[in-house]
Amino acid sequence: MNKTNKPIYVTQPTLPDLEEFIPYLEQIWENKILTNNGPFHKQLEKELAKFLGVPYISLFTNGTLALVTALQVLRISGEVITTPYSFVATAHSLLWNNIKPVFVDIEPEFCNLDPEKIEAAITPQTTAILPVHVYGNPCKTERIQEIADIYGLKVIYDAAHAFGVNYNKQSICNYGDLSILSFHATKVFNTMEGGAIICHDATTKKRIDYLKNFGFAGETTVMAPGINSKMNEMQAALGLLQLKHHKQNIEKRRTIAETYKQELKSITGISFLPEAENTNANFAYFPIFINEKEYGMSRNQLYKKLKQNNIYGRRYFYPLISEFPMYKGLDSAKPENLMVAEQIAKQVICLPIYPDLNSEAMVQILTVIKEK
Ligand SMILES: Cc1ncc(COP(=O)(O)O)c(C=O)c1O
Repeated sequence: MNKTNKPIYVTQPTLPDLEEFIPYLEQIWENKILTNNGPFHKQLEKELAKFLGVPYISLFTNGTLALVTALQVLRISGEVITTPYSFVATAHSLLWNNIKPVFVDIEPEFCNLDPEKIEAAITPQTTAILPVHVYGNPCKTERIQEIADIYGLKVIYDAAHAFGVNYNKQSICNYGDLSILSFHATKVFNTMEGGAIICHDATTKKRIDYLKNFGFAGETTVMAPGINSKMNEMQAALGLLQLKHHKQNIEKRRTIAETYKQELKSITGISFLPEAENTNANFAYFPIFINEKEYGMSRNQLYKKLKQNNIYGRRYFYPLISEFPMYKGLDSAKPENLMVAEQIAKQVICLPIYPDLNSEAMVQILTVIKEK
């Protein structure tokens, strides 16, 4: 079916023309500053804060270390409420901090943490909530904040999927105490590997910057056992260049998402997410959900069929984090506690979406899905 027989992956990293990157490299070679808050790093922090509309941003070498550090910035300990329906790094960041993850089920509309199930999971040990804006769709931030305020909990958003997403006319990263982003190769904005923490004030930014640099708060002062999670100058330079093309890339993603919706809306047994209200989306993913009875084929059968045609969709997020060996012994990881997530994890498949996905590839993907 895939006539060119070239594999079509769920995503393909977006890169600018190599010639555009050469002058940045020349500058790095010229000034010999490779890392440690160099000129490109400083410039990218400034430009990203402006582009996203956030007060303070601190760049990281990846999103996972941004998450691990964010928990340390706020001295989070004990238990943290989080979602099983995410990439495994979300919960791993808790284990790296000796924190016990407490899984709470998701809501079926957008697959985000269900705020109405949070209160029942709060114990005297709970110190924070770690929700994820899954697929870039905003969590129910107002309700989550309301609960956090009542119980005196911090909120750290894993916004790894939500680069550039605005909610109620402001960056989704302005919600909660801290938000983290990922600039991994597979994300809508990439610096090959990379990430960031967004915070509200200069004092917190300073603390984040100490912690990502071994805890150095001066030449001879170390304020905590910080880590080395600094973004280097090559990553930052690429980020500056990527930013120039970002809006155009999102528009291309929007067109692909619209084509998928148009073409798939009449197929019985296939559903997709609604448009989130008051949200400027980033079209990072295009998940579809298979109702086996109505579609006449299971999600796994479709996944395999796509694969046989050299089309590599991904079952994000299957298995649930709570099913991995380091989590499944937890009380909160029991399937009966996570019924919605269990169900959705069996139905989901993310279709390829990236700016350079051409119409020929789209036809191939849609043909495989449509013919049964
Ligand atoms: C929801 C989520 N959180 C965290 C991460 C980790 O980010 P990184 O790969 O930049 O370490 C990812 C993806 O990679 C993710 O999808």
